[in-house]
Amino acid sequence: MKGADRFRPMARGCYLVGLALMAAACAPEAPDGGAANTESAEWKSPLNPDELKRVLRLSPVPAVPVDPTNHVSGNPEAAELGRHLFHSRALSKGGRIACATCHDPRDSFVDGKKLAVGVMQLERHSPTLWNVAHQRWFFWDGRADSLWSQALVPIEDPLEHAFTRAGVAHAIYADDGMRGMYESVFGDMPPLTDTERFPKVARPVPKEDRAHQLAAAHARRAAKQKGGAPESHHTHLYGTGFYHPHQRAWDGMTPEDQDSITRTFVNAGKAIAAFQERMVSGRAPFDVFVEGLREHDAGKTAALDESALRGLRLFAGKGQCIVCHHGPLLTDYEFHDTQVPSDDSLVWRSGEEGDLPVDAAPPADLGRVHGIERLRASEFGVGSTWSDDPTGPQSVKVDYLPRHLHEGSPEFKTPTLRNVALTAPYMHNGAFDTLEEVVEFYSTRADARRFGGQSEKILQPLNLSPTEASDLVAFLESLTDDSLDLSLVRAPR
Ligand code: HEC
Ligand code: HEC
Repeated sequence: MKGADRFRPMARGCYLVGLALMAAACAPEAPDGGAANTESAEWKSPLNPDELKRVLRLSPVPAVPVDPTNHVSGNPEAAELGRHLFHSRALSKGGRIACATCHDPRDSFVDGKKLAVGVMQLERHSPTLWNVAHQRWFFWDGRADSLWSQALVPIEDPLEHAFTRAGVAHAIYADDGMRGMYESVFGDMPPLTDTERFPKVARPVPKEDRAHQLAAAHARRAAKQKGGAPESHHTHLYGTGFYHPHQRAWDGMTPEDQDSITRTFVNAGKAIAAFQERMVSGRAPFDVFVEGLREHDAGKTAALDESALRGLRLFAGKGQCIVCHHGPLLTDYEFHDTQVPSDDSLVWRSGEEGDLPVDAAPPADLGRVHGIERLRASEFGVGSTWSDDPTGPQSVKVDYLPRHLHEGSPEFKTPTLRNVALTAPYMHNGAFDTLEEVVEFYSTRADARRFGGQSEKILQPLNLSPTEASDLVAFLESLTDDSLDLSLVRAPR
């Protein structure tokens, strides 16, 4: 390109105008002088140097890093136990829900639903787990700081598995296969046959815990219906503060036994994390294209057709998508307020197994504002005694979290765009059914929800033409590769 510039002052001007205009205004002006003829015999990059610099950083997906806070990270035996736990419905109330219910390995680790449904319906959409071991913060609101501590949340969440840590220990103990693997990786289990010491259902239930609030609301309702009958099993402590039955069972245990149950629970989370390290995407057409850029191989750059290539230029140029969706996972691993429209019809509904009906609309989702509060309050942070590297570099990242976030600008994690064509619907609340709708939203910003907070200034309507919009979608589709060996992740027989 530089050679051609020397003969075409016009092209140099294009660099100054910027790469977006460059693509539109300069590309059609193919040089036809002698210099260009010599050049066409050589390698000719489909991208200008500026674009090239940005695009090279998007590929390939690197190897999964070892997590120093999890001593079984990278351990195949632990991963195998994790595979059993991930698919086990025994770790849920009523035996109906597994991690795989919402993160189905045969379906790109998603459930295809707008909002996830466990024991009850959640207020958020299930994200994919492709390449999840590369993330720094977990959940849409970042309320977990490690992959292993993330896994502990859905198990005790009354809307998801609605289970308890004591129940997890008993479920592993009762299954010869899982118990054998557990003991070979982590050592002996506590003497769980003694159910006096180790009740089957027990866990600490923090007052701000959703389980506590839901159960308390249920107790209030039951009390009202029965005219406040004190003998209702939920209401006997009403008035002095609700005492959750899981908490009561937990309080009946010695601190040492509580610790050994929590240790088993944490180990289960670490095994599940080791398993999730396997969920890596392969070489997508886009990666082949980038190899072609590096190797000057036109055969490989042909992996993107004209439309996807124009889409890539938009993505890295005028569309500014790359500002937030960068790096090999096409995410900055951070949080933004993109003002995704909210779904006002959303109510907390009782699922099939639900026994804690709450029919009020949930409060507005404040995203990361609550995420940071909950992360700081978590008993399982990377700096806690349950971490295998509590003072290591990872623990420091929590110290740099922002102290004050604007409540009017709810931020959610930038999702990875690897395999995004396979993981509809989209956004933290499943607001959009198709990639076309997502692109339309960035193009028009129609229905952008405003609470009066500052929005991300970068998100101005792009006013894309229909061709530009479909080019962008074609590029997003070029990020698809799900060639992962299913036998590594499917349910054990
Ligand atoms: C009822 C459906 C459901 C079940 C069951 C479930 N999840 Fe999820 N998962 C979700 C939803 C919804 C989110 C996002 C929740 C949020 O941000 O508040 C999520 C988030 C995650 C994340 C964070 C991904 C990221 O990029 O931040 C991981 C990892 C994960 N789940 C793994 C698991 C594991 C492991 C289990 C089993 C122990 C599990 N999930 C059980 C629905 C489910
Ligand atoms: C200011 C940062 C930012 C910019 C710029 C940005 N995004 Fe996003 N993107 C996000 C965040 C944050 C989300 C999740 C929002 C939510 O769930 O509420 C998201 C979600 C998405 C999703 C849905 C993925 C999923 O799995 O749910 C797609 C697709 C997407 N963006 C593509 C794009 C494209 C294409 C552009 C450029 C036109 C773009 N983004 C520009 C931050 C950004």
